[in-house]
Amino acid sequence: ILMLIPVAIAAYLLGSVPFGIVITRVMGLGNLRDIGSGNIGTTNVLRTGSKTAAFLTLILDAGKGGVAVLIARALFGDMAAQIAALASFVGHCYPVWLKFQGGKGVATFLGILLALFWPAGIAACLTWLVTALATRISSLSALVASATASLWAWVLGMSSLVILLSVFALLIWWRHRENIQRLLAGKESKIGG
Ligand code: G3P
Repeated sequence: ILMLIPVAIAAYLLGSVPFGIVITRVMGLGNLRDIGSGNIGTTNVLRTGSKTAAFLTLILDAGKGGVAVLIARALFGDMAAQIAALASFVGHCYPVWLKFQGGKGVATFLGILLALFWPAGIAACLTWLVTALATRISSLSALVASATASLWAWVLGMSSLVILLSVFALLIWWRHRENIQRLLAGKESKIGG
């Protein structure tokens, strides 16, 4: 049980690496904070116009969550994997390096879910994709995918994840509260628009 503290700290630090900011800076694409929503995630990196930068951000933000879970599970088992999942997610959303002003956690969440239980991870990615294709709104896709993730875990045979995934959904919805207001006002921006 004591091992869970270093696991949480290491996972938090891994999750707190703001790849969107690093990549846009290295590629000379300007200051993400001054672009679009000002968020550090894939959707906003795409607003710089660079699909390559957006793709890299997606892979690395998802990858850090997935890697945190896989390492924790390999070393210390399922309980540690769940702690690492939460801690890396919190690291992404509230990174100490950015005065705790981090991202909205969608890519990191999907990476985490793929590592925790890949069938539900694939289902959540497809849910995001179908919603995005239908609406062209990234935030709405994230809200739908996060809200349905625990349902997928349950249906696909891993009901032990339902509580954790509900916590993730609440956190993701909380991080999207400005997006939710824009959605309700009909003012949310569309992908590529
Ligand atoms: O993944 C974040 C996305 O759901 C919303 O991003 O930049 O449109 O607020 P953004």
